[in-house]
Amino acid sequence: MPTAIEPMSPKYGARLKGVDIREPLDAATLAEIKAALAEYAVCAIGHDASPTDEQHIAFSGLLGPMERGKEKKFAGVGERIRHPEIVDQSNLNEVGEIYADSDRRLAYKRANRLWHTDMSFFTIRATYSLLAAHIVPAVGADTEFVDMRAVWDALPQERKAKLEGLVVEHSYWHSRVLGGGPEPSAEELAAHPPARHKMVHVHEPSGRKSLYIASHSMGIVGWPQAKAMELFKELMTFATQPQFVFAHKWRLGDVLIWDNMCTLHRATEFDDRGQVRDVRRTTCRERVVVNEKMRIE
Ligand code: OGA
Ligand code: MN
Repeated sequence: MPTAIEPMSPKYGARLKGVDIREPLDAATLAEIKAALAEYAVCAIGHDASPTDEQHIAFSGLLGPMERGKEKKFAGVGERIRHPEIVDQSNLNEVGEIYADSDRRLAYKRANRLWHTDMSFFTIRATYSLLAAHIVPAVGADTEFVDMRAVWDALPQERKAKLEGLVVEHSYWHSRVLGGGPEPSAEELAAHPPARHKMVHVHEPSGRKSLYIASHSMGIVGWPQAKAMELFKELMTFATQPQFVFAHKWRLGDVLIWDNMCTLHRATEFDDRGQVRDVRRTTCRERVVVNEKMRIE
């Protein structure tokens, strides 16, 4: 199947034409998709109708070991989407109604509006995330991205020298609370301790260096926390300058794939109390994960 690559911005991000994830893909097409991801970091594949959850999962499995949440209850009881591979990123509760204001899950979803990379708070991180658009509001709700390889390239040499070798602690709860969610209980904290990762790493698929920080970043090993937070603030401010940002405007049926190892992303505002946005995510991981303690939305 031929793949045409149509850049979505001058910087990075591309739409892959001639690919339909609902159909079986041959090895050559898959290799082209991976090569496009290595170069463009964010790739959209459009469809005239949303792929089913099963098709979404089957395609994701071709890109690496997949995240599987805990086995879910029956549909309609506790979970809107029955598949343990799918993270429900919609603003809908288990019976398909827009979350109530008081619903803790709504507050946690809003943490997605902070610049982040998926699952940096795990030792075995997310590589690709695949977000499928089932219902999108008419206005707003773009997803914004930054290519952290370009950010690294643009940093002054003396800054770069100071960052190499630093080890960052990433915590799930840190960003949830920053996003306006409630403080976790001691039990929740203990169940999900921070993970450590190098601040600067080589992005394997492209061989380029990338900065790896996110709203989950809560400390630097061997540094006082306040000093670490100051550095994160400086770097995040630098990284999210308009010249680095690309906004994806969703089309119904889009499956958007991004590489978490070299990008930041965030959800943007929309009327999440009045409009339905049904987007569903699968996630690939660096390695197969067994026995992870909790399901992470
Ligand atoms: C995600 C995410 C952003 C969005 O699914 O990981 O951050 O726009 N989504 O929904
Ligand atoms: Mn995310």
